[in-house]
Amino acid sequence: MIPQDMAQSLESDIARVAADIDAAEVGTPEAAEAFRVRFLGRRAGAVTDLFARLGELPAQERREAGARLNALKEQAQARLDEARNCHAAAQDTAPGAGADLTLPGRVPAPIAGGSRHPLTETRREIERIFGSFGFSVETGPEIEDDWHNFSALAFPPEHPARDMQDTFWIEPPAPDGRGVLLRTHTSPVQVRGMVAAARSDGTLAAPIRLIAPGRVFRNESISYKSFCLFHQVEGLVVAERVSFADLKGMLRTFARALFDDDVRMRFRPSYFPFTEPSAEVDIWWTDASRPDGGRWMEVLGCGMVDPDVFTAVGIDAERYTGYAFGMGIERLAMLRHGISDIRLFYENDVRLLGQF
Ligand code: DAH
Repeated sequence: MIPQDMAQSLESDIARVAADIDAAEVGTPEAAEAFRVRFLGRRAGAVTDLFARLGELPAQERREAGARLNALKEQAQARLDEARNCHAAAQDTAPGAGADLTLPGRVPAPIAGGSRHPLTETRREIERIFGSFGFSVETGPEIEDDWHNFSALAFPPEHPARDMQDTFWIEPPAPDGRGVLLRTHTSPVQVRGMVAAARSDGTLAAPIRLIAPGRVFRNESISYKSFCLFHQVEGLVVAERVSFADLKGMLRTFARALFDDDVRMRFRPSYFPFTEPSAEVDIWWTDASRPDGGRWMEVLGCGMVDPDVFTAVGIDAERYTGYAFGMGIERLAMLRHGISDIRLFYENDVRLLGQF
C-alpha cells in the first residue's frame, strides 16, 4: 500500500472502532471486563492494534493520526470508567451488599407532628357523645335568611337580637320579612331539620334527634368571653311525649361524659322566643385564685320547643313535643382545658396550640 492509502485505511478503521466502542455492551461487570480486553487489552486490543500501525505512516501523517488515536483511546477509557462507576454504585446500594442492614437508620431532625385545634377536638368529643345517644349530626348554611334565623323561631320583628348591633346583615331586613345575614346562632338548623321531617299532614315519619355544630357570627363587643365569631352545637329532639325531665337528664348525662361524674351544673330559668319554658345551664369553673374557689360559667341555653315554632314549620303542635338546646363550644373548651380567654382560640399561637 502506498502511504496515502495506509493513512486512509487507518482513518476508516478508527471510525469503525469508534462506532464499536459506542455500541459495545457494558451493562454488567463481566461485560465491562470483556470490553476492556476487546478495545484496550495490551495484546490484540482493537485500539492497541491501531496504535501499532502508526509506525507505518509517513512522518508528516503520524502526528495527526496519533492525536486521533489518543482521542479514541480516551473514548474507550471513558466508557469503561463510567460503566465501572455504575457497577460499583449499584453494589453499594444493593440490599445486603456492602451495607450493614443492622445499623440504625439515618434520621433527620424529627418532624414535629401537628395537633388538633382545641375547638375541633371539643366539637368532635361532643359529636361522639351525642352520637352514642343516637343523635345524627346535621349542618346548615352560615349565610342564612331572616325566616330560618329569626321569624320561624318566633323572634318578633322588634326583638333586640335582630338589631343592627348584633347581626351582620348581608341584605338588610325588609318589612316583608326578607333579609339575608350571617347566622347569629345554629338554631336555624333545627328549623331546617323540622321542615325536612314534617309531612304535609303535620306528622313526622320518625322522631327527630339531631345535633348541628357550626360557626355563628355576632356583631358584639369583644371580651374574654365573647367574640364576633364563635361555635355552637344545636340540639333538637321532637317526638310524642318528650318532656323537660328528658332534657335535664340528657344534659346531665352529657356533662358527665364531657367533664366527669362530679361536674357541678345548675339550671337557671331563662327566656328564648322559641322555647317555653326555657333555661340556661351553668357549669362550675373551679379556680383556687378566686375568693369563693371558682365561678359559674354559662355554657348553654335550652327549653321545650314553643308550639308556635311547630306551627311555623308545619308540625302538629297538639301531637308532638320536643326540646332544644344550643351550647357554646368555646365556653366548653375553656372549661375543659382551663383556657381563660376566648380570644386565645383565634390567635393561632403555636405555644397554645402545641399544648393539645
Ligand atoms: N340559640 C340560642 C343562642 O344562641 C341558644 C339556644 C337556646 C338554643 C335555647 C336552643 C334553645 O336551641 O332551645 O343564644
